[in-house]
Amino acid sequence: MSVGIDEISFYTSSYYFDLRTLAEVQNTDPEKYYVGIGQEKMGMAAPDEDVVTMAANAALPLIERVGPDAVSTLMFATETGIDQSKAAGVYVHRLLGLNPNCRVVEMKQACYSATAALQMACALVARDPSRKVLVIASDIARYDLDTPGEATQGCGAVAMLISANPRLVEIDPEVGNHTEDVMDFWRPNYRTTALVDGKYSTKIYLKSLKRAWENFRVASGRRFDELSYFCYHLPFTRMAQKAHQHLAKLNKASLNAEQIEDQIAPTLNYNRIIGNSYTASMYIGLCSLLENCREDLAGQRIGFFSYGSGCVAEFYSGSVVAGYRDCLHVQRHRDMLEQRESLGYEEYLKLYHYPDFRDGEEHELPHVTRGRFRLAAISHHKREYVPC
Ligand code: CAA
Repeated sequence: MSVGIDEISFYTSSYYFDLRTLAEVQNTDPEKYYVGIGQEKMGMAAPDEDVVTMAANAALPLIERVGPDAVSTLMFATETGIDQSKAAGVYVHRLLGLNPNCRVVEMKQACYSATAALQMACALVARDPSRKVLVIASDIARYDLDTPGEATQGCGAVAMLISANPRLVEIDPEVGNHTEDVMDFWRPNYRTTALVDGKYSTKIYLKSLKRAWENFRVASGRRFDELSYFCYHLPFTRMAQKAHQHLAKLNKASLNAEQIEDQIAPTLNYNRIIGNSYTASMYIGLCSLLENCREDLAGQRIGFFSYGSGCVAEFYSGSVVAGYRDCLHVQRHRDMLEQRESLGYEEYLKLYHYPDFRDGEEHELPHVTRGRFRLAAISHHKREYVPC
């Protein structure tokens, strides 16, 4: 019996800000963003969207297919937590009408926690193959204005159904990990934007890749050339290019620059126009690979490198299942991305500065999202979510 990803779906806001506009305002060469960091647009959440509404939107197509009673556990990965106590997934459980016997938990370790959730979900399914676990990763990446991080903001959520004999990707049991107490990126409880030591974070990312890969090699015995494509954590797409060149060099791979690029290029399409979605970003990259790679991936083994600042990293692998193309949500994803609306600089600032109500008064939020769920109000310190 194999265990892995049976279905995958993602969601991002209907609004984006083009980095060409940011470059114009900053009097910077737009190529710094389009080429230098490999990002073109960044998703901007509407005032009535947050990690809960994005998560429910991402998961809805999966639940519509399998039915709300099919899910035994919902694991919610985020670093944009909305409550220190209550798991954001409990709101999603209600919005999706999941069974009261379904357990819900929230997980955190920066951008890595979706991978922890995925691995734990696989373990739960291996223990009882009749179970299906819903893993959701949802985040809004926010940095201070006029900092190098500003161009790497974004938002998105991804939902994956983990099951026995999956129809998309069979996850191999061997993993390689690297954990180290570092301060490369963090967000204290009292801040809404992340703090980051940008250049240092990219160095730690590459160091963690090396260490996690070495650990994976020992655990799995697999070689670099046994993997056809590679999905990396994508804070910005250029980071994956640097990482993959680094890994190919470490392994003395007999590939030219174009072949190295080809092993990651199809994973980058969506993130380039959505921006960083922290926990969701690598799995939106997987969607991009499955949906945009012209080659039939059936039977091919993919390498995954998940990185969460602070830091915890993991390298693992999985094989694509024959017939996977029949189980994707390609058209829905493409339509969602094509129908997004571009924001001008003032509109971007307005969304960026939209108040995060903390006074306990009653605040109704304008209906702006085009998604199927919205945050309708914040009243008496309670968030009120409704279907649209
Ligand atoms: N045309 C083409 N390329 C240009 C250019 C131009 N006109 N101008 C500059 N560039 C290139 C630079 O040469 C550079 O390329 P290299 O990295 O290959 O040298 C690239 O564009 C970026 O330029 P800078 O290094 O000057 O950029 P910066 O210092 O202003 O910002 C950053 C880069 C530090 C990564 C910043 O985007 C940042 O802080 N981002 C947030 C942190 C982050 O994402 N870290 C990633 C690892 S941590 C992680 O992965 C977790 C997470 O999700 C946050």
